[in-house]
Amino acid sequence: MPADATADLPAGLAELPLERWPRHIAIIMDGNGRWAERQGLQRVAGHDRGGRVVRAITRECARLRPIQQLTLYCLSSENWKRPAAELEFLMELLHQYLVSERPIMMEDHVRVRMIGRREGIPPHVLSELDQTEQLSSTNDGLLLNLAINYGGRGELTDAARALARDAAAGRIDPAEIDEQAIAERLYTAGEADPDLLIRTAGEMRVSNFLLWQISYAEIWVTDRAWPDFDESTLHSAIRDYAGRQRRFGGLDS
Ligand code: IPE
Ligand code: IPE
Ligand code: MG
Repeated sequence: MPADATADLPAGLAELPLERWPRHIAIIMDGNGRWAERQGLQRVAGHDRGGRVVRAITRECARLRPIQQLTLYCLSSENWKRPAAELEFLMELLHQYLVSERPIMMEDHVRVRMIGRREGIPPHVLSELDQTEQLSSTNDGLLLNLAINYGGRGELTDAARALARDAAAGRIDPAEIDEQAIAERLYTAGEADPDLLIRTAGEMRVSNFLLWQISYAEIWVTDRAWPDFDESTLHSAIRDYAGRQRRFGGLDS
């Protein structure tokens, strides 16, 4: 790990052996609305503030070299049930974020990928997403998955469709379908599964996030709402993860 990556890390993180770090962190960024309401503000003020936290946490993960991947739940396929004005605000925020963050992501060598269904996302947002993906595609730093209009069941349904098409066309024998064949047809094809799943704002549920990929992720929930999440909260989650014993169904070694 380069010296700059650990220079100002608090005790407990700087000495952490490489193999104790989570390589892939996935975050359910929840509690924006409740945070705003507690301050006497409109819900959208929480999203606005949450956007700034996305910047800070992405930069921190890019700086901490043992972390290779970050997946952020930005909009679920179920979030379309929300009022039109809130959804419009979220789309404009996403658009602004993509435009303003692009130079910073390039500077930080971040590679961006969108995971989710494109339907329903406004064309001007899709165009910025496509440009960011394309421009950052050869970056060799942190891989940032933005889960937008994402649902785990929808992703598995899309994979089942792709498999059925391949079987009908004779490209795969149904008897040969294994876990790898499914994983290769998910939006996250070729990526490692999350090691650490963080949820903010205290809710003990997965809300249709990465259902296949989190089968053995370590879960860390904080009562802090996403707008109050910061680098030191991230460090606490990493420290806690580092102390866990992962068994994957086996026995302690
Ligand atoms: C998470 O915060 C952001 C999105 C789901 C887009 P919420 O908007 O769900 O905030 P709460 O959970 O209502 O407080
Ligand atoms: C999950 O949060 C989705 C995102 C963070 C984008 P929700 O606020 O939609 O989850 P529920 O409805 O409380 O389960
Ligand atoms: Mg919520």
